Amino acid sequence: MTRLRLPGPLDPHVHLRGLDWARKGTMRSETRAAVAGGYTAVLDMPNAEPTTTSLLGLERKRDELRAQAVCDWGVYYGAHPAGNLDSFAAAMPRTVGLKLYCNQTTGNLFIDGAARERHFAAWQKHGFIAVHAEDDEVDAVLALVARYRIRTHFCHISTQAETTALRRAKDQGLPVSLGVCPHHLFLTRDDESRLGPLALMKPPLKTAQDQAVLWQGLREGWVDAVESDHAPHALAEKRAMPPAFGVPGLETTLPLMGTAVEEGRLEAARLAELVATAPRRIAGIPCPEDTWTELELGTTDHIQARRMQTLCRWTPFEGQVTRCRVARVRIRGREAFDGCTILVEPGFGQEVKATRRETP
Ligand code: NCD
Ligand code: ZN
Ligand code: ZN
Repeated sequence: MTRLRLPGPLDPHVHLRGLDWARKGTMRSETRAAVAGGYTAVLDMPNAEPTTTSLLGLERKRDELRAQAVCDWGVYYGAHPAGNLDSFAAAMPRTVGLKLYCNQTTGNLFIDGAARERHFAAWQKHGFIAVHAEDDEVDAVLALVARYRIRTHFCHISTQAETTALRRAKDQGLPVSLGVCPHHLFLTRDDESRLGPLALMKPPLKTAQDQAVLWQGLREGWVDAVESDHAPHALAEKRAMPPAFGVPGLETTLPLMGTAVEEGRLEAARLAELVATAPRRIAGIPCPEDTWTELELGTTDHIQARRMQTLCRWTPFEGQVTRCRVARVRIRGREAFDGCTILVEPGFGQEVKATRRETP
């Protein structure tokens, strides 16, 4: 068995829920899931209730995180379809970036084409935007990146066509990055009949061909980051009609990715970049001293929701064998997880500080 040390894994795309969505997850339960899953820091998305689209919503979320988080955390601000540009200047210093929803997904934050441009212009000074953009919306957002030259991260990229557009944009020197999710790397639409609603998320599962291209991008280096898109929903909400979209991922991402390393599908150095150094560089969040995670490779483990910290207690990967487990997590000099027990208390997690970004 070997140990692989990762420099401060940061998940740049999680939905911790909390607030009025505490039935799906709390800041305490989902940051405990982060630490048990090997993450030292997480960046939280704005689509819970109340949405992080007003200064009031933002402060409520930050208060809850300050009180409950066991890992380090940062918060995205959300663009609101009804218009919240007036609050941007005050929100900027308290947030890691702006999130724009360019397709329909959980929450009601869809922003149409005309409004997007106003948001790009108004957020320019902050210098970092993350987008949910699928299919043709990728091209639409790329046109805005070309105009405003703001560093823009494309979340949960899942198709060959999307990767083609983004690789071309990179070749043209646009300041873009792309993240891919473990569910798109380890499941395809062929798993939908077996998993039922537990296989439903946005963007939906794709073909084996699309999946192969994502793996190629991981190995060749033009996929920048692996992000869990941890999106817990109560099981009853997944089984309801219509079902809720999204799957939890914080406790399965590193074990699955470590398994890929153990099986020779990915180099260890690439994994460290994909889950730690690259997401930190993209979001401008340096790794604190004495902050790292050790994965044990070569061991045999099973994914079991009943052993998880996430409040939702289900996973689309139930029963899957992994050849990797999280052995230790250290955050700012404190032992946070010893492979069995979480050793830090709610409130230990600190808000991350993004360093100033150069506008390219
Ligand atoms: C996410 C959620 O539930 O918040 N759901 C999902 O299917 N990925 C929203 C999102 O990331 O689009
Ligand atoms: Zn999304
Ligand atoms: Zn998401």
